[in-house]
Amino acid sequence: MTGEPDVTGDDGTTAGRDDGATPDDSSRLFPRVTAYRFRRGTMRPGQQRNWDEHWPTYGQNVSDETVDPEALFGRKAPLVVEIGSGTGTSTAAMAAAEPELDVIAVEVYQPGLAQLLGMVLREELNNVRMIRGDGVDVLTNMIAPDSLTGVRVFFPDPWPKARHHKRRLLQSGTFALISSRLKPGGVLHVATDHVDYAEWIGPTGDAEPSLERLDATTDRGHVPFSLDRPVTKFEGKGLQEERVINEFLWRRRG
Ligand SMILES: C[S@@+](CC[C@H](N)C(=O)[O-])C[C@H]1O[C@@H](n2cnc3c(N)ncnc32)[C@H](O)[C@@H]1O
Repeated sequence: MTGEPDVTGDDGTTAGRDDGATPDDSSRLFPRVTAYRFRRGTMRPGQQRNWDEHWPTYGQNVSDETVDPEALFGRKAPLVVEIGSGTGTSTAAMAAAEPELDVIAVEVYQPGLAQLLGMVLREELNNVRMIRGDGVDVLTNMIAPDSLTGVRVFFPDPWPKARHHKRRLLQSGTFALISSRLKPGGVLHVATDHVDYAEWIGPTGDAEPSLERLDATTDRGHVPFSLDRPVTKFEGKGLQEERVINEFLWRRRG
């Protein structure tokens, strides 16, 4: 990712609060303390022009309105949501490889979305839409229960310090939320190159009773969409440093 992290608040994070929630808020159903870094970043002039002209067609900001996928994509197709799409390298490559699948990329970092928007326009990827905002809010408020064929989370921020672990995206509440948005048989695909986060992700996902773990090597053929990711710049750096990539698959029980 480009751009230095720019922080908001005295702990350098934003979002992830459930203050102000009323007892019937769905934030109570999926309690969270997740947070993300607020990263300021500027778009290049060409990206800004694309954004001004095409963002309203391909993107939207997080809201309380449930997305109607058929209206959004103009067709009925299996739907995958990717949380934290970064600069969209995987999103675009995977969408191009699977035109029969519709993909919603969710990201808080505007220049990353602008980069993905550029690829969508250049490669005429009609099966990609974007939402700018916090993935937990998007899943909670905009994605209907039992509607997704897949959820992708690739290289979520590891928050390595023990006192920051509570900010990690993949908490038990997020697993429950993701599972509730998957259709029975739908699959969550996670990849991380952070060993300590991997050791957290495995047991946390396994503890979600509505999910069953699939073997990320031998069960690949049982997943209703492709799991083949390109190596992104971010992942490439990790591989150069000989970091191990851990992949996880969970299927929503029927
Ligand atoms: C380490 S980067 C990985 C990006 C990309 N998935 C890749 O593999 O190159 C993590 C990304 O997740 C985004 N992110 C973190 N928390 C998020 C959240 N709660 N909702 C949406 N995006 C989030 C960050 O802005 C960042 O772009």
